[in-house]
Amino acid sequence: MLVIIKKDYEEISFEGAKLVASLIRKKPDCVLGFATGSTPLGLYKHLIRMHKDEGLDFSKVISFNLDEYVGLPPSHNQSYHFFMWENLFKHININPSNIHIPMGMAEDIESFCEWYEAKIVSYGGIDLQILGIGSNGHIAFNEPGSSLGSRTRIKTLKEKTRNDNARFFKNFEEVPKFAITMGVGTIMEAKRLILLANGKSKAEAIKATVEGPIMAKYPATIVQLHQYATVIVDKEAAGLLEGDYST
Ligand code: GLP
Repeated sequence: MLVIIKKDYEEISFEGAKLVASLIRKKPDCVLGFATGSTPLGLYKHLIRMHKDEGLDFSKVISFNLDEYVGLPPSHNQSYHFFMWENLFKHININPSNIHIPMGMAEDIESFCEWYEAKIVSYGGIDLQILGIGSNGHIAFNEPGSSLGSRTRIKTLKEKTRNDNARFFKNFEEVPKFAITMGVGTIMEAKRLILLANGKSKAEAIKATVEGPIMAKYPATIVQLHQYATVIVDKEAAGLLEGDYST
């Protein structure tokens, strides 16, 4: 696991975007794993700029998103479908038929999850997965206590996560209670991971992720075992780290 500490949000976003862009240039039909939340927004802005100004070509890129709220249709402005279209897809030349996002409205969630896993495998797996991190150490919607070998499935959201995400909804009660999420095991099979974090609210989770023991209490700690994981954090998120990560 490589840890890169940058000055601020802008720098971590640019660093992450450069890694994604270089993969797309090397392998135009690569399989990208996208994340939602406020953290990757800066990275997406850079990808959009690179597409518009530098001709970064997404036409053959295949995408899989990490997660989606159960019960929100794609048209709901807080669904992750809506988020991805607003913040990335509508601004680049990705082929809509190459986009995969868990279906929060699936009637048979279990079968959907199996189908999603098989679809990832059918494309040869995810080449690069972008990750944010929850303040409680969750990745995607794998909440504390998630099995570290878990696959795509339905998860109950913790109150902490619903509280953190309530800012996007009218009130706490509106935040869905369940989500479909790639499992920790699914995420770990991606050939490369990029985990981004910024701000003081993530410092404890980053400390656990980078320097703590690996445990289901902080699902993100599993990335320590990934051979090609890059953790890119700003000074605030790195604030509690004790090691020397200068390169
Ligand atoms: C949600 C998402 C995660 C994301 C997390 C952090 O829970 N499911 O993928 O990492 O929020 O969000 P933010 O980046 O807004 O702090």
